Amino acid sequence: MSNNRTPMLVLEPADLAGLNDLGRSLGELALPGDVITLEGPLGVGKTTLTQAIAAGLAVPSDQFVTSPTFGIIHEHQGRLPLYHLDLYRLGGGEEELLELGIEEYLYGEGICVIEWPGRLGGLIPKRRLEMELEFHGESGRRLTLTAHGGSWPSRLAGLRGGGKR
Ligand SMILES: Nc1ncnc2c1ncn2[C@@H]1O[C@H](COP(=O)(O)OP(=O)(O)O)[C@@H](O)[C@H]1O
Ligand SMILES: [Mg+2]
Repeated sequence: MSNNRTPMLVLEPADLAGLNDLGRSLGELALPGDVITLEGPLGVGKTTLTQAIAAGLAVPSDQFVTSPTFGIIHEHQGRLPLYHLDLYRLGGGEEELLELGIEEYLYGEGICVIEWPGRLGGLIPKRRLEMELEFHGESGRRLTLTAHGGSWPSRLAGLRGGGKR
């Protein structure tokens, strides 16, 4: 565990446009090997945020990022590969993940965006950007970003207190 665990960015309230802006910025700033974990309840916006990250990575819009019904790992090609892991339907735990070759995604040259990262158990990478999404008010959200190692704090410095589009 990295000791860099202080939230470095809290966005609140985040309306849909704010969440999309943040996602797009993350996609634009992403570097090979980045892992972004998205925690939060059903319907809070994890897949929506993933779509915005995909847009920031210049994934063509016809390659829609949806909640996969079949399979839990979906790959999209933008300026870097985007591996979208939705572990909600994972049945077989860490063993199933290892059989799927999870480590090639987590430690590859693309960007991993992971919904339900708790299902990774002990396979969760030490270096990651953790995002917590919470419902806030009627249709708002609160987004809390915590860097575990890596260079996200300096990359996101420009986003603090005002944001970048
Ligand atoms: N402020 C907001 N941030 C994110 N999503 C929002 C917001 N307001 C409304 N929504 C809607 O909530 C839904 C979130 O669904 P989804 O992204 O699939 O959630 P999850 O993947 O977390 O289950 C979408 O239909 C989205 O348009
Ligand atoms: Mg989802």
